[in-house]
Amino acid sequence: MSERAFVMIKPDGVRRGLIGEIVSRFEKKGLSVVKAELIQVSEATAKEHYGHLEAKPFFRELVDYITSGPSFAMIVEGTAAVKNSRYLIGATNPADAAPGTIRGDYGLDVSENVIHGSDSIDNARIEIERFFIR
Ligand code: PPS
Repeated sequence: MSERAFVMIKPDGVRRGLIGEIVSRFEKKGLSVVKAELIQVSEATAKEHYGHLEAKPFFRELVDYITSGPSFAMIVEGTAAVKNSRYLIGATNPADAAPGTIRGDYGLDVSENVIHGSDSIDNARIEIERFFIR
């Protein structure tokens, strides 16, 4: 079933010039990028986006990282877009991510893991609203 996922290339991925390579992977898979924008995530939006992680010791680092420069936000559409995006992205920690996945190929450390993808259809809806509609 066609659905929409929210995917965001984080500041390290943008800084390293990986936008084209990463978009290409989604397109080759058969998913469509139907909306995309280079955005500067604000401190307030970062804290909302990662609100469920507020108690974690790495929360401050996570907020500093995601606000450290422009991110490339995308709406990706296609069959099972959420699940297929997560497969393309790979495990949260690049050290555990399989070669061939984006994090497996381009990341080294969990604190800078290149890309975010929504983990459920409900969260995709919330994140699209957060980053594109408001
Ligand atoms: S996931 O992929 O969202 O299911 O992973 P989760 O474990 O829930 O992690 C949520 C986000 O927290 C980031 N994270 C970390 N950042 C810094 N240091 C450590 N140790 C760490 N562990 C997890 C992880 O990259 C997730 O970011 P997003 O942007 O949601 O992918």
